[in-house]
Amino acid sequence: MSSNIQAQAGLPVFDHDFVQHLHTRNAQLRSTTPVQRMVTHQGMEVWVITRYDDARAALADHRLGKNAIRTQEVVNAKLPPDADHGEFATELAVHMLNMDIPDHTRLRKLVVKAFTARRVESMRPHIEQISAALLDAIPDKSDVNLLDAFAFPLPTQVISEMLGVDESRRDDFRAWTNTILDASDEQALQHAVQSASAYMVELIATKRREPADDLITALIEARDDEDRLSEQELIATVFLLLVAGHETTVNLIGNGVLALLRNPEQWAALVADPGLVPDAVEEMLRFDGPVIHGTLRHTIEPVEYGGVEIPAGEIVWVGLSAGSNDPERFAEPDRFDITRDARGHLAFGHGIHFCLGAQLARLEAQIALRQLVERFPNLRAVGSLDDVQWRFSSLIHGLQELRVCLAE
Ligand code: HEM
Repeated sequence: MSSNIQAQAGLPVFDHDFVQHLHTRNAQLRSTTPVQRMVTHQGMEVWVITRYDDARAALADHRLGKNAIRTQEVVNAKLPPDADHGEFATELAVHMLNMDIPDHTRLRKLVVKAFTARRVESMRPHIEQISAALLDAIPDKSDVNLLDAFAFPLPTQVISEMLGVDESRRDDFRAWTNTILDASDEQALQHAVQSASAYMVELIATKRREPADDLITALIEARDDEDRLSEQELIATVFLLLVAGHETTVNLIGNGVLALLRNPEQWAALVADPGLVPDAVEEMLRFDGPVIHGTLRHTIEPVEYGGVEIPAGEIVWVGLSAGSNDPERFAEPDRFDITRDARGHLAFGHGIHFCLGAQLARLEAQIALRQLVERFPNLRAVGSLDDVQWRFSSLIHGLQELRVCLAE
């Protein structure tokens, strides 16, 4: 790894230190080189866009593609020969997030017919129940890792129930997702992809035999004139929804509670007026959103951003955290302020791939935060908040753990 990085000396490296000091490092990039070539820890060269206006425009730019097979080819060409050339263009990858127009338009239109605003809103009482039950079940409230005990199980239970995933298989699913997202061991990756696919096939077959009032049945039944989701598309879409439901909202809750603990006067304001919760969630998304960069895009043709030309066939990361903390768009961006108007942040992306689960994620986070505020107004950190460790990932921005005392 180190030899790859040295081979491209002079470029900043997206490494552990970068993740640990994300706000400062993003601020440096924004002010000096808003469109910056960087090297990932695997030695891959990418272009990182960090200013709000550029990032927003890039997210809606059809010259930046997401087609899985083409992206894989570009990634492989960009990785040094001795690096591990993973394969993410697997059978689980034929979903909308890996497609460009017009394939994306077709698939998203079908999925939206099943994943409706009404279906999400109808989950509200059930999410409240799951959230309360998780908080009740914490045995010792004096020292709790909020991520494991609450922020992770909440969204995973919700999406598993929405889809109809068997409770006994949820741990398996968590293990497969981790292996697939981590993608560091080729053999383990293949095994996880095969196991996850086999389970999706089984799940879909069960719903075909016994239709239920759940999201998989709705996806099976979704029609647009004569068109519908193929078996392969169903499998990949269910997988995408499960993964998206597993890895993101947990960090919205975790990162947001950390920001509130670091700004006790904001916590006190929420305790005094829980009606501020929806605004607080928007500020949590803006300030420390769960996705560091957008997922990978590749340049289909040359593009110009911030006065810099990026040739065709390059990998681009659109900085969602960096853009959402740009002082040109949000005054004093490093000040966490639940009373500011945080709308317009890029945490859910922008353009055709704007997060399909945004309404669900907001609902879950609002319910979680409201219950924490109302039940545990004296919530406080266990240990020093200066020592918190961020997970090392080029995609997800989340904490390794968040220890709190939930004294009532
Ligand atoms: C897409 C963020 C939760 C489903 C995206 C994208 C972002 C994002 C940034 C666009 C990626 C890109 O343009 O490359 C988030 C955040 C979440 C969250 C921050 C939580 C706080 C969820 C949940 C679901 C979901 C709970 C569903 C269960 C999706 C889907 C797409 C997507 C299906 C692909 C949309 C498309 O390609 O048209 N999400 N997400 N997300 N998200 Fe989310």
